[in-house]
Amino acid sequence: MHDRPRRILVTSALPYANGDIHLGHLVEYIQTDIFARFQRLRGHRAIYLCADDTHGTAIMIRARSEGRDERVMIAAMRDAHLADFAGFQIAFDHYGSTDSPANRRLCGEIWATLRERNLVAARDVEQLFDEQAGVFLADRFVKGTCPKCGAGDQYGDSCERCGAAYTPADLVDPVSTLSGTRPTVRSAPHLFVRLEPLHAFLAEWTRSSGAVDGPIANYLAGHFLGEPLRDWDVSRPAPYFGFEIPDAPGHFWYVWFDAPIGYLAATAEWCAAHGESFADWWGRERGQSTAEIHHFIGKDITYFHTLFWPAMLEATGLALPTRVHVHGFLTVNGQKMSKSRGTFLRARTWLDHLDPGMLRYYYAAKLSGGIDDIDLNLDEFATKVNADLVGKVVNLASRTARWLADTGLSARYPDDEGLFARAAADGAEIAEAYEACDTARAMRVIMLAADRANAFVDRTEPWKLAKAGADAAARLQDVATVALNLFRQLTVYLAPVLPRLAEQAGALVGGPIRAWEESQAPLVGLPVATFVALMRRVERQQLDALLAAAADAAPDAPARAIPTTHTGGSTMADPASADASRPPEPPADPGDALAAEPLAPQCTIDDFTKIDLRIARILAAEEVPEAKKLLRLTVSLGGDATRTVFAGIKGFHDPAALVGRLVVVVANLAPRQMKFGLSEGMVAAASGAGAPGIYLLSPDSGALPGMRLR
Ligand code: 2FM
Ligand code: ZN
Repeated sequence: MHDRPRRILVTSALPYANGDIHLGHLVEYIQTDIFARFQRLRGHRAIYLCADDTHGTAIMIRARSEGRDERVMIAAMRDAHLADFAGFQIAFDHYGSTDSPANRRLCGEIWATLRERNLVAARDVEQLFDEQAGVFLADRFVKGTCPKCGAGDQYGDSCERCGAAYTPADLVDPVSTLSGTRPTVRSAPHLFVRLEPLHAFLAEWTRSSGAVDGPIANYLAGHFLGEPLRDWDVSRPAPYFGFEIPDAPGHFWYVWFDAPIGYLAATAEWCAAHGESFADWWGRERGQSTAEIHHFIGKDITYFHTLFWPAMLEATGLALPTRVHVHGFLTVNGQKMSKSRGTFLRARTWLDHLDPGMLRYYYAAKLSGGIDDIDLNLDEFATKVNADLVGKVVNLASRTARWLADTGLSARYPDDEGLFARAAADGAEIAEAYEACDTARAMRVIMLAADRANAFVDRTEPWKLAKAGADAAARLQDVATVALNLFRQLTVYLAPVLPRLAEQAGALVGGPIRAWEESQAPLVGLPVATFVALMRRVERQQLDALLAAAADAAPDAPARAIPTTHTGGSTMADPASADASRPPEPPADPGDALAAEPLAPQCTIDDFTKIDLRIARILAAEEVPEAKKLLRLTVSLGGDATRTVFAGIKGFHDPAALVGRLVVVVANLAPRQMKFGLSEGMVAAASGAGAPGIYLLSPDSGALPGMRLR
């Protein structure tokens, strides 16, 4: 698979300490975590580092408005961030803070080198000053009319309409978003990093190092590298929450100066805790660093990570990023997350209502490694995770594991019609897709393997073998052995995305999943634990509760609107847009079922309305031991209305897995006294030629018990 383990340092952008983690942030943390876990599963050494981004005007203003000390506020925010990340199974190797001693030291060292290399310049800057709030206004605290295209309500650094970059003083009719007053212009000395001496290096590095994608390199060439690079303003006069510049008292490093240095500080802290050498990761003298460095960022901060940051690393002789992975923004139900629309979804709110693994899977299925925005459509989310994770992956184990509880896996791997080998061969494509951050492709290939595995179970009908008694016991063990191996193989492939499911699969059979290679050989002769439900279907009520909680949640009073992902820097137009969302072609269905059972004679609408079909929720499901085919179901039509229904679906459906799901019942069917009790209706299900099985009908998500079909 690989000759020798790679050493890979992985980072996500550092979240600001002035707000909660929300679903927009999580796109990136989940994407990065999947990448790091994938690399570890492949046997590489991957360390995933991050930190809180603690400095700047926004944090100062927020602390001030809450009457708290900045350091008290950032400590509390750190705890909240860490809890959110843990909830989503984001496994950092170290989580630092840009307000740490290590970061202060590194900022000082880098600053000294920049001075030595004559890359620091000083000059006065006219900046907007809010007389009422008593602060110089950061670009994002000023709004006004774009000087270039005349669009209103634009931030002080760039125009969202025409993409122009400018300084706040250029804005027409500027207004402070802090006090609503018109700011005055004040002059103050600022310190700059001169980037032009690094122009040739940046032009070359962005074009030929392989660190940035072609469209991004083109964007940088078109917007920045085509003309002399402007000096970068890296200091702010007091009052400012940050590190005071040692040789410029009363002046502080701008938050974007010390933030990326936070990547280095997190590494230094991790190295100190693990007896490792910092130079082995970031050094490059005499080819010291043999590590790869992968930054994951949102497209809005491309500029900082592909121009300023490599310029700083180059100037100070540190290792350059191997790759800057840029992703797009998140929309919710097609629109920007918004507090007023009640779609501003915090990580915490999600964790209160829904399984974090499901969001990890959904994002993985959407992300293809490009910079297209992705949309969280809650209906599609429910349909997809129910169909893929519950219906295909978990179902494979829930349909078959129980038959192995006594016997364990067969001693020899049975004939499986080549299924395990075929999915093992898929491993190369899946790995390649993970490596390219095209998790959407990885998930597609995995789900096709899951389809083949389920078709095997449908064909071999283990529930019939179970009924056939001792004669079929060996065959039943073999069939279930195949199904469970195919299940475990899927969970190895899914482990980077669904670490919790991988743990549960390991507990069921075969022990902890530690290596990708475990997807390549089936297990035999091992005990199988008692099956416990691994994941439950998402129901509409959970989504409703999520949205209700999002609408209720008190705003966290940011000093500005929080976009769906990271902020700061120039906004970047979409240089490329791949057509990842094209719906698949509908399959050509065979005509067997219709041919075997021609349509019934015509009826009128009145005939149809005599039958009262209602949505119902299954509250309880149990086997009727004396009956071959029956399950006793208790269903709710909403409120107190419940019915007992005997359904001939035993063997096709695991009673435990039915509880909670919505079905369609014939609600006005005359009750019928059966040997086992009174049946007060009928559950609608499909069956027929072409495929074995009895298929229960489910409504679209959103339907509620008691709703009538018409
Ligand atoms: O945009 C943001 O949310 C910043 N806090 C990201 C900083 S990333 C790095 F450079 F430190
Ligand atoms: Zn404009």
